[in-house]
Amino acid sequence: MDLAQNYNYKIVKQFAIATVVWGIVGMLVGVIIAAQLAWPSLNLDIPWLTYGRLRPLHTNAVIFAFGICGLFATSYYIVQRTCQVRLFSDKLAAFTFWGWQAVILSAVVTLPMGLTRGKEYAELEWPITLLIAVVWVSYAIVFFGTLIKRKVKHIYVANWFFAGYILAVTILHVVNGASMPATLFKSYSAYSGVQDAMIQWWYGHNAVGFILTAGYLGMVYYFIPKQAERPVYSYRLSIVHFWALIFTYMWAGPHHLHYTALPDWTQSIGMVFSLILLAPSWGGMINGIMTLSGAWHKLRTDPILKFMIVSLSFYGMATFEGPMMSIKTVNALSHYTDWGIAHVHGGALGWVGFITMGSIYYLLPRLAGQQKMYSTKLIDLHFWVATIGIVLYIAAMWIAGVMQGLMWRAVNPDGTLTYTFVEGVKATYPYYVVRFTGGLLYLTGMCVMGYNTWMTLRNRETAVARIPALTAGHA
Ligand code: HEM
Ligand code: HEM
Repeated sequence: MDLAQNYNYKIVKQFAIATVVWGIVGMLVGVIIAAQLAWPSLNLDIPWLTYGRLRPLHTNAVIFAFGICGLFATSYYIVQRTCQVRLFSDKLAAFTFWGWQAVILSAVVTLPMGLTRGKEYAELEWPITLLIAVVWVSYAIVFFGTLIKRKVKHIYVANWFFAGYILAVTILHVVNGASMPATLFKSYSAYSGVQDAMIQWWYGHNAVGFILTAGYLGMVYYFIPKQAERPVYSYRLSIVHFWALIFTYMWAGPHHLHYTALPDWTQSIGMVFSLILLAPSWGGMINGIMTLSGAWHKLRTDPILKFMIVSLSFYGMATFEGPMMSIKTVNALSHYTDWGIAHVHGGALGWVGFITMGSIYYLLPRLAGQQKMYSTKLIDLHFWVATIGIVLYIAAMWIAGVMQGLMWRAVNPDGTLTYTFVEGVKATYPYYVVRFTGGLLYLTGMCVMGYNTWMTLRNRETAVARIPALTAGHA
């Protein structure tokens, strides 16, 4: 029997479309700030459009709008298919969609106004922070409620990753969000000094670990086997890697605070746990890539699979680079430089961006009652344009970063600095132009996806309900 009609696909579709739309918006803002760094006059002397205000708008739009809408769409789809039941509550699910869009729109208005808590990735002022908490708890109720009423005894591993991400974000958001409101738009952190810094980066690093990693591993474990039509390479490894990953991530935050007032032993703990983190991260990466065993030939013709596999390669790269950067002596060179920005965007554009795009390409035709996307050639075009964009972006930032680090620490025999700061800025200029070009290519790819999405959804009238029937086991 085809149970597909009994699932709530409307909510999945809403979030999938929102992912594409916010992806374009967030990346456009990324390109604008990249241009401002190359050509500062583009700040236009208008406070709303200055770099300092648009930068948090970019990070919020790509992580919380593009990234999390993608996670909502995929987790709602996967939990229904693998539990073989409809979502716990349609009404609450609809609330999470509109509530989350309200959060995003509030960010779009307040961040350019300069209203901020001043904590990176937790900038939104207290009324919005409260709204996030309410939407998130509703998300948890829908997700866990669906798990509880499941018709399949086993909980498929993708759901473990989503469950870990939803639970961890609840704790992180509540603890780091604790603040004392002074007015409607101004609040102060409940913590002070070095404790505040430690809580902020415990939050910040676990936002990487649980939003930018665990949630997307949920996508890996469902969509790669589906698209490759192969079982997960090692189910046992997926479980071992889940527990190892979530345990280790929690302790690695202090690597953001090397050489600060944080006690030295705390910094060392952060470093050691970051080095250990390489093992579970690579366990996941290898498990994902090896799932393609026996299906490698598909990579020649299937651009969706290309997105997914290249995404895992970038994941492997970022999770090798991260532990290296957490070594104190390496961090002494990399911190404050564009090397960090290269690391972030290797992870963000390559890993987070590509696995989301691959998964949404998998979902859209199924949600629109179509056999496939409107154009497979356009998916391929998207893949290549975006890949070239990433390479330009991160290669430019690697070179710029190492160069800055070395210039800043160069000293003359008499102990004076060899270069003034502004000489470093001047030397970086050409690389900012290359990064801008790479970003523009990546954004172009996203716009191609937008067009392909539009055309696929438009063709809906011609389609009969062709949603594939639920197969046995983990559908
Ligand atoms: C084993 C895994 C990883 C480790 C140990 C790690 C480690 C690090 C280190 C040492 C830094 C630089 C801290 C500093 O000097 O301020 C950093 C920054 C960052 N990493 Fe990773 N990383 C890992 C994986 C990832 C992945 C997969 C992403 C996904 C996008 C990511 C996103 C970020 C972000 C956004 C920052 C910048 C934070 C900020 O200063 O605003 N990391 N990471
Ligand atoms: C067209 C694509 C993109 C462009 C051109 C772009 C550009 C930029 C620029 C110029 C910055 C500021 C760098 C600095 O302060 O020196 C930045 C920061 C950042 N971007 Fe992007 N970005 C893009 C896509 C993304 C995506 C898709 C994500 C996440 C999924 C992302 C996550 C971040 C993060 C976390 C930071 C802050 C890094 C830090 O503080 O260390 N970006 N981006």
